[in-house]
Amino acid sequence: MENSGHSHGVFLKNSNAMDIVLQPAPALTYRTIGGILDFYIFLGPTPDLVIQQYTEVIGRPFMPPYWSLGFHLCKYGYGTADATFSIVEKMRELAIPQDVQWNDIDSMDKFKDFTIDLDNFALLPDMIDNIHRNGQHYVIMLDPAISSSQPKFTYAPFDDGMAMDVFIKNATDQLLIGKVWPGNTAFPDFTNPVTHEWWAKQISKFHKLIKFDGIWNDMNEPSNFVFGSIDGCPGNNTYENPPYLPSVEGGALASNSICVSAKQNWSVHYNVHNLYGYSETMATHNALIQVRSKRPFVLSRSTFPGSGQHTAHWTGDITSTWDQMYHTIPAMLNFNMFGIPLVGADICGFGGNTTEPLCQRWQQLGAFYPFARNHASIASMPQDPTVFSKAMQDSTRKVLLTRYRLLPYLYTLFHRANRHGSTVARPVFFEYPSDVMTYALDTQFMWGEALMITPVLNENATSVTAYFPQDIWYDYYTGSVVKSGLQKLDAPMDTINLHVRGGYIIPMQYPETTTTESRKNKFLLLAALSLTGEAHGMLFWDDGDSLDTFQNKEYEAMKFTASNNTIVSEIENDGYPGASTMMLGQAFVYGVKSKPNQVIANGVIVQYRYDVINKCLNISGMALPMNASFNIAWSP
Ligand code: NOJ
Repeated sequence: MENSGHSHGVFLKNSNAMDIVLQPAPALTYRTIGGILDFYIFLGPTPDLVIQQYTEVIGRPFMPPYWSLGFHLCKYGYGTADATFSIVEKMRELAIPQDVQWNDIDSMDKFKDFTIDLDNFALLPDMIDNIHRNGQHYVIMLDPAISSSQPKFTYAPFDDGMAMDVFIKNATDQLLIGKVWPGNTAFPDFTNPVTHEWWAKQISKFHKLIKFDGIWNDMNEPSNFVFGSIDGCPGNNTYENPPYLPSVEGGALASNSICVSAKQNWSVHYNVHNLYGYSETMATHNALIQVRSKRPFVLSRSTFPGSGQHTAHWTGDITSTWDQMYHTIPAMLNFNMFGIPLVGADICGFGGNTTEPLCQRWQQLGAFYPFARNHASIASMPQDPTVFSKAMQDSTRKVLLTRYRLLPYLYTLFHRANRHGSTVARPVFFEYPSDVMTYALDTQFMWGEALMITPVLNENATSVTAYFPQDIWYDYYTGSVVKSGLQKLDAPMDTINLHVRGGYIIPMQYPETTTTESRKNKFLLLAALSLTGEAHGMLFWDDGDSLDTFQNKEYEAMKFTASNNTIVSEIENDGYPGASTMMLGQAFVYGVKSKPNQVIANGVIVQYRYDVINKCLNISGMALPMNASFNIAWSP
């Protein structure tokens, strides 16, 4: 941000190890130890335009499958398919929304990729069938490192990889062997197109056994439990011992990873280390398309500028503390600026044991991570919503149903990220660049232009102080107006504060406990009027799962405009094959100055209620086809 309220961006496109030193503004120092000094300057002048310009260079984020915007559950160490499934069942019994179940490496046979532990996970295929029948989805883990110590002809991923020559070699052209979960391992070179073929082949074979819908790429920095390789790294080597060493973890480039003198197709590992995860997710994304012919979902720990084209991201192994929960907000906002909007942190924390109040508040915040997954380590206590008190379950159900209700809005934001590169979850200053009070705000954030989210981040707090930039703001739940400036808000344990910005229309849908079911329901609109009685919004909708619906024009796009006591819709594209089932059932209008005498929708008188205190209109009992323009008018 410049003092003028304008903003610009600077991008050094360089994958070598580097330091970036913050100097007294307006200066920073880059110290990179290789590559090209390929600088881009993005002139904005708004923060949103900076990110649009940046993502034009690095590649725009992929369009996520609709189901991946639902709630995900995972834990390292469920131990058995039964134990995993019993949580899915309990979630169903308690009617807490869940779209996706995951397993970690414990479902594998001795942590080997593309295997199942038959003693404990033989029932996995049955579980997945059940999950699919229930309109839910399933994600497996694939680490990059491939076990290299199995007897010949017993482990095809390694044997095939050797035959196709896909593994990384060391400086003297021998196979580089490290150690990861399954013991000794070789590392695929995903910068080699042949490796993509090999990877897709393994994924396709495995998919015949296990009908996974998405793939989790962990440990892809690449992470290695020994320094460089089991034989170490060449001592007298300029790559391993460069004249200048940036401040890297472990004090050496190969620390916790592979030797940087190792050879890859794109270049020596020294130059492409930071592209390991990037290249792996490219291969995984494309393999999933080949295998499922549907929109792929990949989650990656390692990313690089442009990774958002192929993958979602989570922020790695955080601990279950109030402080770490707070830090997930800037992390999520940063990754939105990095062009990876489908991002979230492990809800309730990964390491250590959570507490019920922490997990309850974290479920509320996490319901507004673009990627919402509760995940914990093997040593942590179970922390899915089913293990807590009824009050905690109720509040988690409530906030997840709120998320599900808002998914049409979230999905439309993802469409805009995919087309234009804008952020989905965004810092408040993106919307108010001339308000300096917003610059350092990292305890609140927005979804798009219209929704302000203010979580509770402190233990025992039942109120929260929020900053509202100069504008008209409505409480999402009641429609009551909140004044601009710093405001103390009630925040009872079962509620997260949400506010809607005047001038915007948010498309919503009646929620169910899976997106498959929600998507069959009627839509709703929430029109939050500006002081002059105006508002606008849009909806992007398609089947949520097919590839290239935008390119093939298989989508509905519509604009909503409120003015002169009327909401009208305008169809911009009418190509979604299921469009005739899309109905508008209800509309809330916030900021209606007086009780209307009558409300007419498409020429027919409809039911409404008017809340005199909060000045809200609730128009219900409608069934307006959304694939044609509609008109809802209230007489003043
Ligand atoms: C490290 C990952 O960050 C974590 O999420 C996962 O549970 C473990 N690896 C085990 O696979």
